[in-house]
Amino acid sequence: MDIEEWERKYLEAYSDVKGSIGNLSGVFVAYNTNIDAIKHIGNKDISRLLKAVDLEEVQQKVFDYPRQIDTPSDLLARLIIAMRDGKAAEVPTYTTATHEWLTDNMVFDHANMGGQAGIISNLLANMGINNVITYVPSLSREQADYFVRSDNLLYPVISEGKLLLKHPTEAYNSKFKSKVNWILEFSKGLEFSFGGEHIKVPRDNRLIISSRPSWLRIDMDRQLYDQLPMIQQKINGAILAGYQIIKEEYDDGSTYHEYVERAVNVIERLRQGNPDIQIHVEFTSIQNKVIRKMILKDIVRRNVNSLGLDTVEVANALNVLGHEELAYSVINKGENGIIALYEGAVRLLHDLKLNRVHVHSLGFFICVASKDCPISVEDHRSALLFASTTAAAKATIGDINSFDDTLAGLDVPVWDVGHGELENLGKYLVRRGVCSMDDFDNGCVSTPVHDLIVIPTKVARDPVATVGIGDAISASAFVALLAKIK
Ligand code: GLC
Repeated sequence: MDIEEWERKYLEAYSDVKGSIGNLSGVFVAYNTNIDAIKHIGNKDISRLLKAVDLEEVQQKVFDYPRQIDTPSDLLARLIIAMRDGKAAEVPTYTTATHEWLTDNMVFDHANMGGQAGIISNLLANMGINNVITYVPSLSREQADYFVRSDNLLYPVISEGKLLLKHPTEAYNSKFKSKVNWILEFSKGLEFSFGGEHIKVPRDNRLIISSRPSWLRIDMDRQLYDQLPMIQQKINGAILAGYQIIKEEYDDGSTYHEYVERAVNVIERLRQGNPDIQIHVEFTSIQNKVIRKMILKDIVRRNVNSLGLDTVEVANALNVLGHEELAYSVINKGENGIIALYEGAVRLLHDLKLNRVHVHSLGFFICVASKDCPISVEDHRSALLFASTTAAAKATIGDINSFDDTLAGLDVPVWDVGHGELENLGKYLVRRGVCSMDDFDNGCVSTPVHDLIVIPTKVARDPVATVGIGDAISASAFVALLAKIK
């Protein structure tokens, strides 16, 4: 289809989803929420930061590629790498010194709701989805204030053995503290010199310095766990994220095995009595390879229906699952990048026994679905088109405050570069006898082993934000799908 035809499909999909989304009973969203301190990095900031560190040390660190931030030079090294490559990254820090150093050297522009579960809860509540039941372990008073004031946004509390649903601002525990992440955003075209190299940022993106205070856990209150079947009646599905916070070992001697087991128990309990509940996990950048592998093999595999991830995350996932060569091709991009991405998504679908893998890349989405996924390819495609529209709206206007705010996305044009890349995948599939070019052209391909849905996306020229766009894509596609299952 040419771009004009795609634009028409976008309009159709939008009204289709708008008409069905009210069918949803509700969605459960857990686990990670934090406060994002957002700073847009300009030339002056980068030179100030570079003045505050030992440049030779940073150069060495750029080479070493630190996977956690212990010192300011680790931080600068990861920032330079992220800016040089235009790639999103999230790096943990276990010391409060990092936050102090950043506060001493910079002032953040604004503070927002952060964390995948927090961002998704607010988005869905603002879109008017019924019963957005959000759960975050250790909800602090300050954190609760970052949830939107909306009657459909609810937090489960147990009172006298009974489950009640209240707004987070009526459910916090004043004993808990907040977690603050720094989001260092940078824009395409920013130029600076470092270590004799001239760096020009190739793409708008961000580096997240994720604080990991020692009290942080991915867990569920035992009483709530017991009452989960009560929540189950109010929802059609769950969106789970934040497992990356799990540590290999804790000070009290516990290990990740216990947290994995509990995480799986929660999923099983959500399904108990209603096996049709769909579970989506939103993946992310996970530096620790042991944890990354454990999340995929022990939590996602067999327990989850749907997985959402971006290009870098696909490569990272393939890497720990033993597909290093494919991971390399995904990252290496070039002409065949989209082909490697498709093959990678197929591997994830089959290796992890999923019903659906949704990959969001700049310019296109690829979704592969198992044959027993209870949705038609056309409905899958509508969900993707709607998700692209929502993301384009968020990139253009910032916060989505109502369902109608997503309309702004329809004004953003389909990106010709992404549209052009689809052809490479089409030719590859035709060459291999998987489908005809006509079948591929409308974005819905049925193969004997899985279905493939691929669409060109709408890309905002000058996004007002990049953080949370991936979450908006995955969450809006998933709820659009859930509405169809019902
Ligand atoms: C991760 C980060 C959080 C950010 C979110 C955006 O959860 O920890 O700071 O808001 O990603 O997707």
